[in-house]
Formats: sequence, structure tokens, C-alpha cells
Amino acid sequence: MSENSAAPRALLKNPLLFYIRQNQRSFVLGMIFLIITNSLDAAYPLFIKKVLDEVTAQGLPAILPNGFTPSSEAARNIGLNCGLFFLTMLGLAITRYCWRLFFGRYHTEAAEDLRNRIFKHLTTMGPSFFMKNSVGELLSVLVSDVQSFRNAIGAGVLIFFDGTIIIAIVLPLMIWLEPSWTWKTLIFLPLIPFMIKQLTKIIFATFKTQQTRLAELSGVSQEIVSGIRVIKSFAQESNRLKFYNRYNASYEEACLQTARWDALFMPVMEFGVASGSVILLFVAGPDVFSGAATIGTLVAFQRYISKMVWPMTALGMGYSQYQKGMASFSRIREIFTQQTDIPDNGHIELSQFKDLEVKNLSFRFPDGTENVLENINFQIKAGELVGLVGPVGSGKTTLLHLLTRLYPAQPGQVLVNGISLEQIRQENLHSLISMVPQEAFLFSETIAENMAFGLTKTQSEGEATTELTNQKILSHWATAVDIENEISHLPQGFNSQLGERGVNLSGGQKQRLTIARSLITNAPVVLLDDSLSAVDVNTENKIKGSLKNLEHNQSESNEPALRTRIIVAHRISSIENSDKIIVLNEGKVAAIGKHADLLKSCEIYQKMALIQGYGL
Ligand SMILES: Nc1ncnc2c1ncn2[C@@H]1O[C@H](COP(=O)(O)OP(=O)(O)O)[C@@H](O)[C@H]1O
Ligand SMILES: [Mg+2]
Repeated sequence: MSENSAAPRALLKNPLLFYIRQNQRSFVLGMIFLIITNSLDAAYPLFIKKVLDEVTAQGLPAILPNGFTPSSEAARNIGLNCGLFFLTMLGLAITRYCWRLFFGRYHTEAAEDLRNRIFKHLTTMGPSFFMKNSVGELLSVLVSDVQSFRNAIGAGVLIFFDGTIIIAIVLPLMIWLEPSWTWKTLIFLPLIPFMIKQLTKIIFATFKTQQTRLAELSGVSQEIVSGIRVIKSFAQESNRLKFYNRYNASYEEACLQTARWDALFMPVMEFGVASGSVILLFVAGPDVFSGAATIGTLVAFQRYISKMVWPMTALGMGYSQYQKGMASFSRIREIFTQQTDIPDNGHIELSQFKDLEVKNLSFRFPDGTENVLENINFQIKAGELVGLVGPVGSGKTTLLHLLTRLYPAQPGQVLVNGISLEQIRQENLHSLISMVPQEAFLFSETIAENMAFGLTKTQSEGEATTELTNQKILSHWATAVDIENEISHLPQGFNSQLGERGVNLSGGQKQRLTIARSLITNAPVVLLDDSLSAVDVNTENKIKGSLKNLEHNQSESNEPALRTRIIVAHRISSIENSDKIIVLNEGKVAAIGKHADLLKSCEIYQKMALIQGYGL
């Protein structure tokens, strides 16, 4: 497998180690503060023991009210230990804060980095990847798998270490205090990790069901909200509500199921403490009575027993958490190891567009059984106006995608200036050829930002600046696509905010904005994929006029030259004045020629023309 720039091998091999290395400082500081915290936490029962021992050494009257008059040395000892106890508690508050801070930074930064890497990888992927992986699946990887991985290398690792450190500190202290009490009171404790492990297994399973149901509920909610107009117009509100309630109830049921098992967690832990303490009373009682041990030791020991329960829980829980996160990472790894079918390996930079040649081009979708395009041949010179027509499904959109390398053609099948597309640097290719897609897609930003979208240049990693697009330029292109008037009537003009996918615009307005977005880039070649289908004939004529004389500034000569235009259209009126018209039918070129010639020679073209009222 070749090295993936978004995911280095070290990450794929051992993600935990990779992120510990990457965030070494935060991780190590977090660990140091965790060890200090646990040491301080283990120390304070000793101060309690000291105080109690001093008090009880005075005999029974000492613990009665007003019955205690300590010797000056005892008073000093008690005061000293109380002071130490207080300082320890203060220290604990500070170190607890510190380890949380550093540890939090380590896994937060790791999650942020991982999301960026996945996203970077996604942007390099081609069509076969997006056919294989649905948007829903990819979102769930980006959101919940990253989160669960973060829990693994954060909380999972943390509680595992925390547990281990506590055992390493507390167990020797217990043995030091009373070896015989230690093994008797802790004998059942190792059962806890097994119980917790089983419990977490069940909880993870129920949690997974809960997540699946939540995903379903979100899907249904989203569909209902976006389809609300259809629902209303068919008077299906109450039926949809029932439909929604079903999903909602099933999600709630899954939540309850998780809560039921989750509720067992604390009782198991607390039972561990309680049983240890009961055994301690049995075992230690006689020793205290006989004077072999002090009450202070008993109290301190009880504290240590309760401190040993969490590590037992932590080992089971941390391990399960880690396992779960690694299962999520295997899904992330699976995404990273999928290779793009349009790798950006070309090094050639073209400063000018001279011609486009399509040679014996055939294309089949990765999951398809038949060629969608079959042996296509044509040539287009700089400055030409080309019409591309054909019945629905004849392959027009697919062909345009191949010309811009959004789909991969075989080497040598699509050439710009005689150079096969995969040899040209992708960014350079896309600055030469700008496409207006069939489905207008706008971002939920302002009209100005959408229009200037293609002018945004990435300067350095993650930093993007939009060239200052002045009002004059925006107005010029808005006029060219005949939308200036409508924009100027909006209260905020070009600074009007668009809704999601541009919902607050009509279909025709969206189309015109996407055309303007392409034209503004000064790319020498523009491809319009049925981009005038939602505008009226008047508007179409105006845009046709703009396209007819569409010029661009050539970087070398600074002389304006006509742009090369390929226009897919259903209305023959949109393309009848083209320099050449390519007629596609069932993935093959049926004819190439001028309008007048095709009317005479091409049967498919004749039929289209006839339906549209052209006399033959
Ligand atoms: N993503 C895809 N996967 C599989 N087949 C597809 C895909 N997109 C389009 N097709 C098929 O390719 C053929 C050409 O589609 P398209 O290029 O969109 O035609 P046109 O733009 O001429 O209407 C159609 O038969 C269509 O079903
Ligand atoms: Mg199409």
C-alpha cells in the first residue's frame, strides 16, 4: 500500500501510539499529574489514622465530649496531621484540575486531527468511493466513530492507567498497614473486573442499538422536515406523525434498555466496597479489641478498600472502552485504505487552453455491467461554441464529468493540448475547465460568497482567502446571467444569506447563480450541463447572448479571447447557433455537425427539432 498523505502508516498501524507521540507534552504532563493526584489521594487516610490514633491513645474518655485534654505533643501531632490533611486536599484539587486539563487537550487535539485527516482523504476520493460509501455512513464515521475512538484513547486509556496506578500505590500501603487484613478483605475484589466487563459488553450492545435507532429517527425527521410541503399537500400530516412516533418510541425503548443496564454499574461497585468493609469488620474487630491494631488503622484500611474498588472497575471498563474505540478505528482505517480512482499525480501545468480531444472514449460505472459511453471521438478548438444534445440518459452528464476528470477516463482518451488529463495537475485542470453542474448546488453563505466561490485560493494549510470581489465584478456577471435585477431587489443585495442548498431561491435563480459562479472564474473553457432548463425563454435568450460573446483574459497575451463553451441543452433553441453540435444517443455519438446539416442528416436530431416546432 502506498503512503497516504492523509493517513501515514504509523497512524494506521497503531493509532494510540501515534497520537501519544503527536501530543507527547500534554499526554506526559497529564500522566505526571495523574500519578501525583493518586499519590496524594492515597496519602490522606494516613493523616486520618494519625489523628485518630492520637485521640484514641488517650483512652475512652477522650472520645467523649469535653473529655479530651491532649498532651502538648499529641496536640501538635493532631494539628500537624490536620494541616497536612488540608494541604493534601488542596493539592488534590489542583492536580486533579491539571491532569484533566492536559489529558483533555491530548485527546481533543487527537480527535480534531483525525477528523481533519478523514476529511482531507474524502476530498481526494472519486466517484466509485462515493457510490460505495453513502453520505450517512461517512457522516457516522466522521462523528460517532471518531468520538468512540477518542473515548478509547482518552477515557479508556486514562481509566486503565488510573486503575493501574492506584493499585500500584494503594496495595503496598495496605500490605504495609496490615498484611493479613489485605488478602482477606480483597479476596472477592478481582471478581469485579469480570462483572464490569460483562456489564459493559451488554451496555455497548444496547448502546449500539440505541445509536442505530437514533440514526433512523434522525433520517426520518430530516425527511419529514424537508418533505413537509409534499406531506401537507397530500394531507398526510397525521399519518406521518404516526410514522414518526413509531421511530421515536423505538428509540426511547432502546434508551431505556441502556439505562436499565447502566443503572447496575454503581450498585456493583458499591457492593464491592460494602462487602470488603463487612469482611474488614469481622477480621479487624478482634485485632483492634486485643490491641494488636488501632482504630486509626481500621479507619484508614476501610478507606483503602473503597479506593481499590474503582481500579477493579476501571480495568474492566477501560479495556472495553478501548476495544470499542478500536472497532471504530477499524472502520476509519477501512475508509483510509480505499484508494481514489482519480489520483492527483499529474505534474504538468498548462497556461493556456488550445484544444480538447476525445479519442475512443468508453466508460462504465464501477458498479455497472454495460458501458455508459462507447467509443466517443471528437475534437474541440479554443473559442468554439459546442452544443451537446441527446435523449435523457444518453450520457451527456457522464461525458462532461469525464472531461473535467470528476470521473476517471483511461489514459489517452481525453486530452487537453494533446496531454492526457491524468498528467495535468488537478487544480490546474480545474482552473482551465469550469463546469456548471446539472443540479445547482449552492452553499448556505451569501450570494456574493457563492458567486466568488471559485476565486477562493488556499494560501497555506487550512487558510483560505477570497479575492476581494468588488461590487462591479459581481454586478457584471449577475447582469450577464440576467439575475442582477432580482438581487438588487433583495434587502441586502449581494450580501443576502442563502438557506441550506440555496432553499430561498427559485430553481431558475439557483441555476443562474451557478452559471455566474463559473463564468466569474475566467476559466477558458466552460461546460454547462443543462443549466438553462429552469429559466424562461426571455432569460434564456439574454444568457445566450452573454455566452455568445463570452471572453476571457489570456494570462500570456492579456488579449481577450473567446471562451470555449460546451452547452448541454434540451431546447434546440439554446444551441442552434453553435459552431458544432454533438448528438449523443445511447452512449454513442450519433452525429456531429451544424444545426442546418443535422436537420438534414441526423434522424434523432430531426425528431427533437420536430417536437420543438422546427419545420424541416
Ligand atoms: N452514478 C451512476 N452509477 C451508475 N450508473 C449511472 C450513474 N450515473 C448515471 N448513470 C447511468 O448512466 C447513463 C447516462 O447518464 P447521464 O450521463 O446522467 O445521462 P444524461 O445526462 O444524458 O441524461 C444512464 O443510463 C444512467 O442511468
Ligand atoms: Mg444529464
